[in-house]
Amino acid sequence: MRRAIGPDIPFIMRTERLEGYEELIDRWEEAQHRAALAESRYKYFVAEADGRLVGFAILRDWASSEQTTLVQRVAVAEPGRGLGRAIMWAVVRAAFTETDVHRLWLGCFTDNLRAQRSYEAVGFVAEGVARGSAFFRGKHCDELVLSLLRPEWEALVRRLAKSPRTP
Ligand SMILES: CC(C)(COP(=O)(O)OP(=O)(O)OC[C@H]1O[C@@H](n2cnc3c(N)ncnc32)[C@H](O)[C@@H]1OP(=O)(O)O)[C@@H](O)C(=O)NCCC(=O)NCCS
Repeated sequence: MRRAIGPDIPFIMRTERLEGYEELIDRWEEAQHRAALAESRYKYFVAEADGRLVGFAILRDWASSEQTTLVQRVAVAEPGRGLGRAIMWAVVRAAFTETDVHRLWLGCFTDNLRAQRSYEAVGFVAEGVARGSAFFRGKHCDELVLSLLRPEWEALVRRLAKSPRTP
C-alpha cells in the first residue's frame, strides 16, 4: 500500500469503471481526480501485489480539525480475494497512526453485502441507515453508515498483538 501519484489515476479510473461497479461506486473523470489528488484534505492510496496495482482507496477530510475522516471510495481490481479487507486494514492503520482522527466512517449501499462484510472484518460497526443520503445515477439512495472509532481500533490492535494476524 502506498500513496497514489498522478500516473496511478488511469488505474483508479479503470477500476471505477469495471463491469458491475457502476451500481456500487461513483466514478470521477480525470480532471476531478487530479484536482482531489492535489488537495490536502484528500488522500489517495493504491495497493500493489506482485508488481501490479490491485486496488485503491480515497479518503476525504484527512487530518480534519473535527477528527473525523471519510473513506470516500474503495475498490479492487479482483473482488472476493481478500484484497479489500487488506486494503481497508492498511488504510485504517495509516489514518489512525498518521493523524489524530477519532472517527473513520463511510457510507455503503444497503445491498452491497460484500463491501459491508469486508469493512466489518476490520472493525467497522454498522450504525444505521441514512435515508436518501446519496444522489447516485439520478436516484436518491439509502446508505448504511459504518464507523470505526479510535478506542475500538486500539483495542483491536491490542487483541491482535496477543494473537498476531491481520483481520
Ligand atoms: C468492496 C470491495 C473493496 C471489497 O473487497 P474484496 O476484496 O472483494 O473483499 P474481501 O474478499 O476482502 O471480503 C469480502 C467478504 O464478503 C464476502 N462476500 C462476498 N460476496 C458476498 C455477498 N454477495 N454477500 C455477503 N458476503 C459476501 C466474502 O465471503 C468475504 O467475507 P469472508 O472473508 O468473511 O468470507 C470489493 O468487492 C470491490 O471493489 N467492490 C466493488 C466496489 C465497491 O463495492 N466498493 C465499496 C463501495 S461501499
